[in-house]
Amino acid sequence: MNREQALDILQKALGDGPRYKHSVRVLETAVGLAEKYEEDVKKVELAAIFHDYAKLMPVDQLKNWILSAKEDSRLIDYHPELWHGPVAAYLVQKEFGMDDPDVLNAIRYHTTGRAKMSRLEKIIFLADYIEPERNFPGIQETRDLAKKNLDEAMVKALSNTIVFLLSKKSAIYPDTFEAYNDLIRKGGIRF
Ligand SMILES: [Fe+2]
Ligand SMILES: [Fe+2]
Repeated sequence: MNREQALDILQKALGDGPRYKHSVRVLETAVGLAEKYEEDVKKVELAAIFHDYAKLMPVDQLKNWILSAKEDSRLIDYHPELWHGPVAAYLVQKEFGMDDPDVLNAIRYHTTGRAKMSRLEKIIFLADYIEPERNFPGIQETRDLAKKNLDEAMVKALSNTIVFLLSKKSAIYPDTFEAYNDLIRKGGIRF
């Protein structure tokens, strides 16, 4: 499947409203990062285009897919906003036979992060976080870091997310902590 075919499928699934436009901005941002960090542009394109493929699905359906598709069932105890990543990964494999595990994992983990993220996973996670229409505290710092160092930008994005969730007294999915801890340890253990 090429970029145009994938965009066509996405537009049919999401319409051409804000969610589709967000996905196109994520695509453009992710391709920029792919060129800078020498990642496979074709994989980045597919992962970016489909990362929010399940974003408009009702929560009940997302929950059913998480359980029946044998995605991580711990997700059910956390915010439903996290569910559309794993469900999108499952659906693009099932519906279009997309079977590249790198692409599927970049889609799957874009909502949570995880330990030992691949470069492709980091690019999709960050592109989703910093696409040009995003506007929240700390965003510019994350954008600047993304131009210099993927891991440092990831630490910034993850710590912003964790602090935000703490401030709302929201539960934090363990993989998000794992992603953060893994990157921090890479820079040398700090106590
Ligand atoms: Fe998403
Ligand atoms: Fe997104």
